[in-house]
Amino acid sequence: MDLETHLKDTPDDLAELILTVAECSRKIRDAFMGKQGMTDTKNIYGERQVALDKWADQLLVKRLGDDLDTVKTVASEEQQNILVYKDEDDPYNVTLDPVDGSSLIGTNLTVGTIVGIFKHHDVLSQGKKMEAAMYILYGPLNILVYTAGKGVHEFAMNKRGKYFLQRENIRIPNGKIYAPGALRRDYLPIHKKYIEMLEDDGYKLRYSGCFVADVHQLLCNGGIFTYPGFKGRESGKLRLLFEANPMGFIVTKAGGAASTGLGNILDVRPSSVADRVPIYIGGKKEIELIERLNRENI
Ligand code: F6P
Repeated sequence: MDLETHLKDTPDDLAELILTVAECSRKIRDAFMGKQGMTDTKNIYGERQVALDKWADQLLVKRLGDDLDTVKTVASEEQQNILVYKDEDDPYNVTLDPVDGSSLIGTNLTVGTIVGIFKHHDVLSQGKKMEAAMYILYGPLNILVYTAGKGVHEFAMNKRGKYFLQRENIRIPNGKIYAPGALRRDYLPIHKKYIEMLEDDGYKLRYSGCFVADVHQLLCNGGIFTYPGFKGRESGKLRLLFEANPMGFIVTKAGGAASTGLGNILDVRPSSVADRVPIYIGGKKEIELIERLNRENI
């Protein structure tokens, strides 16, 4: 079944939005050949922008903001400000991480696109208010995963650029993979204990440096991804709006969970588009363990 057919029970305007991102992802895949270098510009975090990242941002912003009639605002990791379009009444507010893991482009490792979709809630709302979320993985295959609130579904792109259903209503399995971000020497004590417990329990290391890829493997094999708060940056590295919330929404809808280590990420109230958050995302069992360790040490 193709993506369009799969979306037949989804409201037309939301289906159109998801299909538009899917169409952009085909163009982004095609652009890998020509857009490998760096630009002279920096994003809001002061990081030099990768050419593909900037190009993908412009493509997505144009197609969603300018070309669709239903998108009111777009917040992108690559933009300084929230972009405002059209009428007050337009229902959708969208967050974009155009190319997550873009430092890996030069080494031809998998990168991704992450999209969060709010309906009648602004992008600074709690993640649990999201209507839908999706990501695309640019690996050996283009993989698209979306949830419009009910199940989590996975599609693969064929030679003609069309997405076909691979797995429907994905549930995160039990598994023993861990993907730990940050330097071990900077771990805070409870996180250090947590990682040691996973290792003692036989968890196997699988960390690519691309959040989307590292979380996608958990939907396939189970386990846990963490990018914790660490010495020198207790709020962690990953961005609440662009990374943690949409991926947390998807994993939660697949029967997993996403936590700051203290509580549900989807309950966090953002204070700005640039917020960062410590993240633990994956199986419920692994999330319960870090939350218990933190509770016992408070
Ligand atoms: O936030 C961008 C990102 O590349 C994520 O995709 C990834 O999880 C993380 O940063 C990797 O960070 P590091 O290079 O510190 O492992």
